[in-house]
Amino acid sequence: MELQREQWKSQLGFVFATVGSAVGLGNIWRFSYMAYSHGGGAFLIPYIIALLSAGIPLLILEFALGHERMGSAPLAFAKINKNWEWLGWWAVIFVMFGIVLYYAVIIAWCLNFFFLSFYLGWGDDPNTFFFNKFLAVTKSPSEIGHIRTPILVTLSVVWLINWGIVFRGVRRGIEYINKIFMPLLFFLTAVLVLWSISLDGSMNGLKAYLEPDFSKLSDPAVWIDAYSQIFFTLSLGFGIMIAYASYLPGKANITKNAILTVFINSGYSLFAGIAVFSVLGFMATSQGKPISEVVSQSIGLAFVAYPKAVSLIPGGNLFGAIFFLCLFIAGLSSSISIVEAFISATIDKFGFSRKPLITLVTILGFLGSIIFTTQAGLLWLDIVDHFITHYGLIVVGIAECLLVGWLFNIKVLRKHINSISSIRLGNWWDITIKYFVPFVLGVILIGELYAEIKQPYGGYSWTVLILIGWNWILLTIIAAFVFARRPWKTRYYEIEGRSQKNNLKV
Ligand code: ALA
Repeated sequence: MELQREQWKSQLGFVFATVGSAVGLGNIWRFSYMAYSHGGGAFLIPYIIALLSAGIPLLILEFALGHERMGSAPLAFAKINKNWEWLGWWAVIFVMFGIVLYYAVIIAWCLNFFFLSFYLGWGDDPNTFFFNKFLAVTKSPSEIGHIRTPILVTLSVVWLINWGIVFRGVRRGIEYINKIFMPLLFFLTAVLVLWSISLDGSMNGLKAYLEPDFSKLSDPAVWIDAYSQIFFTLSLGFGIMIAYASYLPGKANITKNAILTVFINSGYSLFAGIAVFSVLGFMATSQGKPISEVVSQSIGLAFVAYPKAVSLIPGGNLFGAIFFLCLFIAGLSSSISIVEAFISATIDKFGFSRKPLITLVTILGFLGSIIFTTQAGLLWLDIVDHFITHYGLIVVGIAECLLVGWLFNIKVLRKHINSISSIRLGNWWDITIKYFVPFVLGVILIGELYAEIKQPYGGYSWTVLILIGWNWILLTIIAAFVFARRPWKTRYYEIEGRSQKNNLKV
């Protein structure tokens, strides 16, 4: 079957979409609790180093792969080496049947909290409300309990919106909505930042956020978290950026677009961090506690500390509503990109038509998310997130570097990038991709595995970790092999007269 590849309307539209994917719950919820649990300012140095040393080179690599090979992750990988097609499938499968399943549930919580903000529905004790009433968390992941109906309701709204956007396609759906979502998100965040720095005690929070603490740099955990945060926040190893770049026209400024995406994304994280830490400073001052004691469990930063603050701030209802609306918008624009990475791959290989496919995938996604709406949902989310982000994303990152750096002539890719980009890459990029990034990620991976074996993650039992975490990894790998072994049903694509046979058996 011959297919015509969809294309972005403009390069600016592409950047809106990549920023939409990158800026997500990771920038507000994950970034702040990472920074908070590593003592604020201490986190920024490893974060920036990880960004420059791995984030930028890898994002350029993913853009170039998708663009030059003209395909989503499995197609792009298969065009480099047929034996590695499974890796592309693994990435898009573990994000679609892993990350987005719980990611959608967190977006659903944000929608619940958006409504709760209007009447301060969390009462006097947001901590008890969040863990014991809203989630009603059980003691162990094996005690599933029942589905939390309010979460199930908002979850269906989230999946419905995802469906509606991706259904309309790359240009009319994803590009269009990001052009509305991103400016709106930046505007709302600016309101939040200005409001939060005007609060009493905000300066104490900002001090904790911005003052570097060099002594923390000797702690390997800070570095591991910084590198995995860069992967998560830039949507690297998800297969998203490869798919998005495959919709670019022949002439596309790869390096400039990558650098723009990186700076807007991290700039946004740093900016949103101001709002979060100012509020922490305000809480610390009003409760007479040090900042490090304001939140007991860092995961509850957004859903416990913020609601607490909202109850204390004059006019806090609006403040809370804006905060949760920001999280909701940021989350949605990322979740559609995850769904699109899988859709794009499946269309590439089997030539399915988008509309019935997205309908089916949405239904499967919704059903898969349900486990995270149960009373054990938070515990499942914690385990699945740990395994997929720590092993899945990092392994895909290493494999991408090895594939392009060692099983392919990386100079071909660099030549392609330089022939169309305004910022030209030197030999340093080849060296970074061939040696530096795989080495650093390899060390992180070994460190993680060592820590994992020494002490079961999160205090869970081995049985639970194997049954949920390792099994999730294993099942997605098996699914990836099954997909990779199916024959290709599509022939080639043409974009602006650029056509490239996919050299794969039809
Ligand atoms: N990049 C997305 C985020 O940070 C997945 O949330």
